[in-house]
Amino acid sequence: RKIRLVEVRSELAAGTRGASMGIDALKIASIKRQSSFFMRFEPVSVKDENQLLFGDPQFPYAKYGDGVYTMLNRVCDTITELRKDALFPIVLAGDHSTAAGTICGIKQADPDKRLGVIWIDAHADFHTPYTTPSGNMHGMPLAMVSALDNEACESNDVEEETEALWERIKQIGGRGPKISPSDVVFIGVRDTEPAEDHLMDQFGIRNFKTDELRSKGVEAIAVEALALLKDCEQIYISFDVDSLDTSISTGTGTPVANGLSKDEAFELNRALIKDKRVCCWEIVEVNPTLDTENRMAENAFDILEATTDSLIKNF
Ligand code: ARG
Ligand code: MN
Ligand code: MN
Ligand code: MN
Repeated sequence: RKIRLVEVRSELAAGTRGASMGIDALKIASIKRQSSFFMRFEPVSVKDENQLLFGDPQFPYAKYGDGVYTMLNRVCDTITELRKDALFPIVLAGDHSTAAGTICGIKQADPDKRLGVIWIDAHADFHTPYTTPSGNMHGMPLAMVSALDNEACESNDVEEETEALWERIKQIGGRGPKISPSDVVFIGVRDTEPAEDHLMDQFGIRNFKTDELRSKGVEAIAVEALALLKDCEQIYISFDVDSLDTSISTGTGTPVANGLSKDEAFELNRALIKDKRVCCWEIVEVNPTLDTENRMAENAFDILEATTDSLIKNF
């Protein structure tokens, strides 16, 4: 297997500006570490739609939704092509909405393979326009690929245009759901809204919180998480850096206390990626404008490099 770096400098779906520079912050960190990482892999760059941030958000419950849609389609098509060539995409992205494009692309390349997701994040990112507390679409990627409407806990008064947009988003990379929510495993999720809690209950989604990870150990959690996805033929891992504790995650838009330590995230990603079913890994939400010392990106870079090394060793 061969690796391709995929760079998506989108920040359109985040509530705070600056995540588009996360990739460059990782590159700056690599220079400080005197690492050859970014010289070793051929990057593919996906065009973003960040220029829309100068205009009107359009949909209050799906801000910049048209631009997010356009960008997700590009991510999806890029990932589909790479997967068809049996390449392993390591996606470096800004706002987490891109994960929906990535998942749609994986599924479009292999529609018959059951796809499981390991989501390492402080957030569940399972909102729809009907439930979102912010309208920021980086809180929605898992609902997009599960083709959810969560009408049961509908709370926002969504306009028709937004409904139509949501229908189009659900069809990126082909009709219907790309994953089942029951094939999602959460690690580190600790800041959710009631609509998300309801979904997690309804689908029996397992969430390994920081405490459990600490008491059982990273290795055991990795084994358990992978075992929960035993019926999945492919696995996608999404690593949102706000899964890390606020002591090291100041440089991200939505930091949350009681997160993973750097070492825990480091060992966790290294362990998970050894599973031969893992076909793509993504790191998102580094925002250097919130972090004058670039510590977030340096920690994230160390995790990126170590995870990639672990992948290569186990190819
Ligand atoms: N649940 C909150 C919202 O929908 C926060 C989402 C944060 N997501 C992220 N990818 N950082 O606004
Ligand atoms: Mn998050
Ligand atoms: Mn919250
Ligand atoms: Mn996230």
